[in-house]
Amino acid sequence: MDFELKSSSLARICSEKCDVLVVLITHEAKFSGTGDDAISRMTGLAMKAGDFDGKAGKLLGSYRPADIAAKRLVIAGVGDGSPKNVRTAVAAAMNSVKNGNAKRVVVSLSALASVAGDSVRAAVLACADVSYTYTATKSKATPSSLERVVFAVNNIGAVRTGFDKGVGLAKGVALAREWGNRPSNHATPTLLANAAKELAKLPKIKVDVLGPREIAKLGMGSFIAVAQGSAQPLRFIVLRYEGAVKAEAPVVLVGKGITFDTGGISIKPAGEMDEMKFDMCGAASVLGTFRALAELKPALNVVGLIPACENMPDGQAIKPGDVVTSMSGQTIEILNTDAEGRLVLCDALTYAERFKPRAVVDIATLTGACVVALGAVRSGMFTADEKLAKALHDAGETSLDLCWRLPLDDEYSEGLKTNFADVANVAGRAGGAITAAKFLQRFTSKFPWAHLDIAGTAWKGGSAKGSTGRPVPLLIDFLLGQALDKPASAVPRGKPGKKAPSKPATRPRAA
Ligand code: BES
Ligand code: MN
Ligand code: ZN
Repeated sequence: MDFELKSSSLARICSEKCDVLVVLITHEAKFSGTGDDAISRMTGLAMKAGDFDGKAGKLLGSYRPADIAAKRLVIAGVGDGSPKNVRTAVAAAMNSVKNGNAKRVVVSLSALASVAGDSVRAAVLACADVSYTYTATKSKATPSSLERVVFAVNNIGAVRTGFDKGVGLAKGVALAREWGNRPSNHATPTLLANAAKELAKLPKIKVDVLGPREIAKLGMGSFIAVAQGSAQPLRFIVLRYEGAVKAEAPVVLVGKGITFDTGGISIKPAGEMDEMKFDMCGAASVLGTFRALAELKPALNVVGLIPACENMPDGQAIKPGDVVTSMSGQTIEILNTDAEGRLVLCDALTYAERFKPRAVVDIATLTGACVVALGAVRSGMFTADEKLAKALHDAGETSLDLCWRLPLDDEYSEGLKTNFADVANVAGRAGGAITAAKFLQRFTSKFPWAHLDIAGTAWKGGSAKGSTGRPVPLLIDFLLGQALDKPASAVPRGKPGKKAPSKPATRPRAA
């Protein structure tokens, strides 16, 4: 689907030919009912009669309305016009027309007194979200009829950046949703690696894929242990986005890529086990973020690491009580084979050290406990670094892809102690999301680190079952912020031709 930004007044939009015209109206809008354009007239009458109040998500529809060139008109309330309400309004309007034959839709924000770039971004993302349809494993593909959505505003200049951000982001979110949704037999570690290789065709992106032999050579004993019960060979995917000079320390994103989580020998109950195909949504969010980076081209370096494998019960599988040696050298007693995410992530975190990163963020559908704590509204966020905490929190707010910080007090590590290894992989039921984060923290002493637990936010269950593409919007806002907020040592300086001092600069710390 194509998006276009166009300048147009409310009066001119009446003569815009299209299949559907969506007009956003705030709850404070004042129309006399005798105004000079058809939309103002109709809205004024409806408001006066109490049939439309402009509350976010309220709709007023008509077919072939007089003096309006569009076939269908949908007037959509946006409340106070905030980005969040714009998202609600556009989603409601697009959902109301998506089962028709509409090809060309115009969404007008021309009736709003002032329009923020973030509102246009929210409108673009909401459109893209509604029009996404999963077709990969259906015999009769019926993709959305939508071909083009034009966003009309009074002043293009003020919102161009927000619009472009929305368009780039939409591609990343769609890719993350697509890979999240594919069933595990259509999204094996090998297929996930192939998707990453596809991304390397885009500007500034490179990819390396490591297989069993190379992963063994690296000493990733913990990651290998999880994969050993599966017939699918494991993959370690290394993506690079090179938007800045080579010497600049990258941000590293690590995505949990369990393409199916049966629980292993500590097997999960059968009910809803199918949803464990979504256990690679962290990995999918890394792929989606790279897709968006290729569009938005910020001036920074980003590395993406994806440990990808299945967690299966088998004659070869790990058993409760088994002790393995991680790449860091720390030994781990696997008391529960269903706590496998942390086992693949810890080796990826150790691998991240080689990039001397300015920050590492891991993204994982890590614990059911996080779903209990925060539900589907906010992702869990863990970090000991105040600057990272603020950057991630703020990125969540601006992108409408929320997160909430949870604690990392050392007392939460008590339960990870064991008589048989350096650390156990589980610590009892209490505070399960936090103890999982405490386990990961042991592997992050060399860089500022944050962990996002997306177990509650990465997909929806029930009749709307499907991947959400979260937290790609959060990650992109976070990265765009990092591109602006560079450590002093990352800014190139000195005369061209002159070599930098041979003494290595101290590594930039805070993000
Ligand atoms: N992938 C799951 C986490 C999960 C469960 C996400 C349900 C969303 C919904 C993870 O690998 C897991 O199984 N975690 C266990 C950890 C426990 C054994 C300490 C859990 O949360 O039950
Ligand atoms: Mn598990
Ligand atoms: Zn899992």
